Amino acid sequence: MKLVFFSLTGQTRRFINKLELPANHAHEINPNNPFHEINEEYILIVPTYDAEVTEVVNDFIEYKTNQKNMLGVVGGGNRNFADLFIFTAKDIARDYQVPLLFSFEFNGTLEDVKNFKKVVDNLESKKS
Ligand SMILES: Cc1cc2nc3c(=O)[nH]c(=O)nc-3n(C[C@H](O)[C@H](O)[C@H](O)COP(=O)(O)O)c2cc1C
Repeated sequence: MKLVFFSLTGQTRRFINKLELPANHAHEINPNNPFHEINEEYILIVPTYDAEVTEVVNDFIEYKTNQKNMLGVVGGGNRNFADLFIFTAKDIARDYQVPLLFSFEFNGTLEDVKNFKKVVDNLESKKS
């Protein structure tokens, strides 16, 4: 299973780096060319911004088999935005009918890293 993420200012990328994944287990969506087919099941991790900013994430999801292979979505955000906390991930969960698996603020705490790993392990054990 892969992790696919988008990061505008580097917080989400930092979270992914903290997971210390084996090589090639993560794919960063390229805002200049999001059209990349993953070809295997993956979890999407997205920060929260206005729809114009995250449109490239939708472009990625809708490319070839990517929508079919998306197992769930994780939201990164900032709780100061209150009701708007992780709305991008929530919108993706609703629009593409996938579960919202986890949320964290900024680049995540060590506790977030630990808890997110449990979510991934859990999902992997259900698959095997
Ligand atoms: C212009 C702007 C708007 C944002 N709007 C929201 C928001 O509505 N809800 C939220 O939870 N976080 C919001 N955030 C916080 C970011 O999603 C958060 O800092 C995230 O960790 C950034 O990830 P990135 O550095 O990988 O792009 C906003 C940040 C900026 C700069």
